[in-house]
Amino acid sequence: MRVAGSGEVLGLLVNAEGDVIPRDSPVLRADDLGVLRGDGVFERLLVVDGRPDLLDEHLARLARSAAMMDLPVPPERVWRRGVDAAVRAWRGGAEMSVRLVITRGAEGVDAPTWYLLADPVSPALLDQRRDGVSVLSLERGLDPELTERAPWLLMGAKSLSYAVNMAAQRWAREHDADDAIFVAPDGQVLEGATSAVVIARGRTLLSPPLSLGILPSITLGRLFAAAEADGWRVGFERLTVHDLHRAEGVWLVSSVRLAARVHTLDGKPLADVGPHEQVARLASPRPV
Ligand SMILES: Cc1ncc(COP(=O)(O)O)c(C=O)c1O
Repeated sequence: MRVAGSGEVLGLLVNAEGDVIPRDSPVLRADDLGVLRGDGVFERLLVVDGRPDLLDEHLARLARSAAMMDLPVPPERVWRRGVDAAVRAWRGGAEMSVRLVITRGAEGVDAPTWYLLADPVSPALLDQRRDGVSVLSLERGLDPELTERAPWLLMGAKSLSYAVNMAAQRWAREHDADDAIFVAPDGQVLEGATSAVVIARGRTLLSPPLSLGILPSITLGRLFAAAEADGWRVGFERLTVHDLHRAEGVWLVSSVRLAARVHTLDGKPLADVGPHEQVARLASPRPV
């Protein structure tokens, strides 16, 4: 990413050996299956003041996603070394977003490709934390029952096949919203295009159950643990779009965005009485 007006490139690339190399260095072959088929997995995490946020959890989820598609994962020490190298080389602001990427590698070679990308947090996400978001509910079409029955659909894996999620976000933007929440054919709320969904009902925070084939959100895990310690009740419950309209607060949460309040859903303003500052604080890394 370039810093506006300065022409300076801040984004870093760390190769499989753990070396920081020029951002525009080639690390993939043209016949890499990550490119040809979207066949691979990734993670994205936040680094604040040089401290990777919830790295253990991200490494565990990377391994889980990879296992779901029989993809070999480089050992954890390789990722830790790469993250350390990015932290040391970083010349940007206090926050950095890091992507860990594994692809199935070049066609016919049977050796995965992996690398890390480090970038400033996008201004759009910083705006979302501050101003909240307008969201459209969009059909995903996949029956949640398929999660168990059809593991090849990779429901709940963080695979590189995000073209549908990106298309949903583009659709939302073309229709005067900032983001999308996916809904199952039976009307159940699933997750955002790149986030988990949380609502407040009184002193209870609720999110849809993971059995619906959604990604286990690491940010949601922290939010729920911190909220419980703060005296909130938390739980996983099936929710409809109607439940979102009636809630005292609705948020999209994810590792780099942290929490963004949903202020408008399908063109209708949502209640503005929710514990927005508390949720934002509880979803964020603890200051040390
Ligand atoms: C589809 C989807 N659901 C949920 C999340 C939230 O997960 P996390 O809080 O671990 O970033 C993401 C984040 O990237 C996502 O892409």
